[in-house]
Amino acid sequence: MMGKTQEIMCGIVGYVGKRQAKGILVEGLKRLEYRGYDSAGLAILQNGALKLEKQTGRVANLEGELDKRAFNGNIGISHTRWATHGKVSQSNAHPHVSSDGKIALVHNGVIENFTSIKKFLLSKGYSFESETDTEVLCNLVAYHYAKQPEVDGQSRFAESVRRTLFHVEGTYGIAVLSTDCPDEMVCARKGSPLIIGVGVGENIVASDATAFASRTQNVVYLNDGEVAHVTSDDFNILTISNESVDPIVSQLDWSGEEADLGDFAYFMEKEIFEQPSALENAMRGRFSEDDSTTKFGGLNVSPQEFRQMDRLLFCACGTAWHACLVAEYLIEKYARIPVEVEYASEFRYRNAPLDKNTVVFVISQSGETLDTLAALREAQRKGYRALAINNVVGSTIARESDGGIYQHAGPEIGVASTKAFTSQLLISAMLALYLGRLNDMSYGDGRRFVEALKAVPELVALNLKVNSQVEAIAKAYAQYDDFLFLGRQEMFPIALEGALKLKEISYIHAEGYPAAEMKHGPIALISELCPSVFIIAKGEVFQKTIANMQEIKARHGKIICIAPEGAEFPDGLIDDLILYPDCHEAVAPLLACIPLQLLSYYIARERGCDVDKPRNLAKSVTVE
Ligand code: M6R
Repeated sequence: MMGKTQEIMCGIVGYVGKRQAKGILVEGLKRLEYRGYDSAGLAILQNGALKLEKQTGRVANLEGELDKRAFNGNIGISHTRWATHGKVSQSNAHPHVSSDGKIALVHNGVIENFTSIKKFLLSKGYSFESETDTEVLCNLVAYHYAKQPEVDGQSRFAESVRRTLFHVEGTYGIAVLSTDCPDEMVCARKGSPLIIGVGVGENIVASDATAFASRTQNVVYLNDGEVAHVTSDDFNILTISNESVDPIVSQLDWSGEEADLGDFAYFMEKEIFEQPSALENAMRGRFSEDDSTTKFGGLNVSPQEFRQMDRLLFCACGTAWHACLVAEYLIEKYARIPVEVEYASEFRYRNAPLDKNTVVFVISQSGETLDTLAALREAQRKGYRALAINNVVGSTIARESDGGIYQHAGPEIGVASTKAFTSQLLISAMLALYLGRLNDMSYGDGRRFVEALKAVPELVALNLKVNSQVEAIAKAYAQYDDFLFLGRQEMFPIALEGALKLKEISYIHAEGYPAAEMKHGPIALISELCPSVFIIAKGEVFQKTIANMQEIKARHGKIICIAPEGAEFPDGLIDDLILYPDCHEAVAPLLACIPLQLLSYYIARERGCDVDKPRNLAKSVTVE
């Protein structure tokens, strides 16, 4: 890649209105910092001249610099970057400015044909200060602007951006300013999300509505291939091929306060404690009148069509992939429908032969994960119906899927997924019930299932009371550098999730395994230096799991056990026991997950880690 930088999962905020842009942009960037925090920058038009500041590191660094001099102006663009290629440096930070000084641009995405465009622009006298594809894009806008004639009733600036994009291959979400047009901002998207927050006398453009939700609830989601010309009082949208678009203004289904930290130290902690209400919201209005099954308004699949299908395929990444594994257990157990689970990143290239009556589900909190989106598109290309379980309303996956189930968990800001995961587990159980009732599950079993689901928010609230016990355990174990997480059957995905949570926020090496597989290799890791966390359920493998614990104890391994209330263990076997409330087995994985979230959170804090912004990670992975 020759030092080229690609800005793929960053945050963009742009403002045009009557107020000072600087504070609004910085506030928006802070809210989008979960998308990347390697560098940040901002450009404002002050009396028609560009004022620019960029800093490596957190938005706070940028803010510190901005406070040192006047940055007045009612229009500006800004960016927070997550570097995928190329070093983290001030020159690689956005915004970039064209060599004639007229155009400033922020960008998420990759311009694939930037080398040939750059060659062309060099021949036309444009010069470059960085190796970035974004600077090439910025200069190409300047080139088209310079040769674009004025046309009555048309923005010369917007038209030059549209023409630029006509020549560009790759992906982008962009926001652009021109010194010649101090009241206009132009933005566009292809492959990277961009949303217009429609205000009164002001408009804000951002990669995610979190940036502006405290200011306006009215949003327009740009579609791929659309260019928006935005002023303080108006906006117009055209496609790149010059067709006009009738914008649809939607309402956010959550408020700005939900994206605030409140009294919590970290968003992860806040989101862990928000789980009772997030789970309540996942169920609202989704039970049949007789409380014997569930119903999903947006699935767009009739019961008759569901009965025709032979198989389900679930695809996702990371934590959402763990939710798919739980869905597999639940649906196979309660609905007796075969389920396969694939990593989205594997499925998209694997060209897997699928049974013709397969329905594909993707699960994604953000709805923007590139691999998951690509898996959805691949399934649709092959002619399969592809449905989504997704948290962010209006996300790309939500809009492109053939139907789906919104999680309604509210904004999840912490990079480590918590409430979105348990809400995915609850929805998986609800789906298993729905499909089970279409097959052999009786009315009575359905009623008991519904009752169990309805009890979940209260049980989770009860479960969260283990927090001080878990905090004390975390203190005792925070110095270990290796952990094993072990569980059987539907607790195996929870073991994987426990290990992922711990490693991503505390940088401790942790592996999840099916408890019985441990003796086929991982048991070699066991010593007094490698504790094991067992996640255990009632049921037929309970005693077998105790045997697995004994194998560990015999090798001097410490054992933390997460078990249902009422479970009994041989004396001296377990070092630390954390109980979760007794419950229906369909929701036991969800309840067992809560102490694991707390354990990883408290260990990370004990080790002094930045819980919400773990190193090398970003919330939405819109890169391959
Ligand atoms: O937004 P998505 O659910 O598609 O994200 C998928 C993964 O990137 C995500 O779950 C990731 O593994 C989290 N950091 C886990 O906490």
